[in-house]
Amino acid sequence: MSLQVEQLGKDYPTRGGTLSVLRNADLRMERGDSLAVMGPSGSGKSTLLHILGTLDRPTSGTVRLNGQDPFALAEPQLADFRNRHIGFIFQEHHLLPQCSVLENVLVPTLVGERSPDSEKWARELLERVGLSDRLDHRPAELSGGERQRVAVARALVRRPVLLLADEPTGNLDRRTAQAVGQLLLELHQQERTILVVVTHSSELARTFPKRMEMADGALQAVE
Ligand SMILES: Nc1ncnc2c1ncn2[C@@H]1O[C@H](COP(=O)(O)OP(=O)(O)OP(=O)(O)O)[C@@H](O)[C@H]1O
Ligand SMILES: [Mg+2]
Repeated sequence: MSLQVEQLGKDYPTRGGTLSVLRNADLRMERGDSLAVMGPSGSGKSTLLHILGTLDRPTSGTVRLNGQDPFALAEPQLADFRNRHIGFIFQEHHLLPQCSVLENVLVPTLVGERSPDSEKWARELLERVGLSDRLDHRPAELSGGERQRVAVARALVRRPVLLLADEPTGNLDRRTAQAVGQLLLELHQQERTILVVVTHSSELARTFPKRMEMADGALQAVE
């Protein structure tokens, strides 16, 4: 189980010419590894995460997850690959307002291969994120930190290999951000995912064993 990114490039065509956001970004991670990616606004962190999550295609270079190049797949197979192997957490929770907490966590299991133990696993995840007594609440009936914990449980419900989070604590106050960040790392360790978190918070980044900075379109190690 590994993530291998080689010589990744991403250009956006703009009216003023081509904008090269990523240039030769390299990354290698194994199962159980976690990484915090920092860097100034506009440096390409979300662009990188979208490509790792197969939501966007690179202009050049390769991404391999477990040795497989997802971009070689046709669109329906790519969607299946993404659903099966990749979990996402965004700054906005993107929970469905009409659905309960439990139903929201089960959403990724409604497409693709069904697993008979999905509901049991969803309940267990919600217990691990401390929301067993909120299963029937709607998102509007939760605090910001609780909503983000639901998003963490939802990202893990398909037992993904790769867990990607873009500013997962960006909307939370400092204490809540710490708690959610810690929970994310704990669940990552329990499930032995490959975790990549983009953050502007050096406080959150410090809790990660490895940190890199996006600069000049590439990933550079930071102390
Ligand atoms: N679809 C697009 N077309 C053209 N340019 C784009 C597109 N998407 C992003 N960009 C540009 O690419 C650059 C990198 O954007 P990106 O969202 O990856 O930055 P970021 O590092 O995540 O920033 P932030 O910390 O503010 O979230 C920005 O300058 C942005 O304007
Ligand atoms: Mg961003």
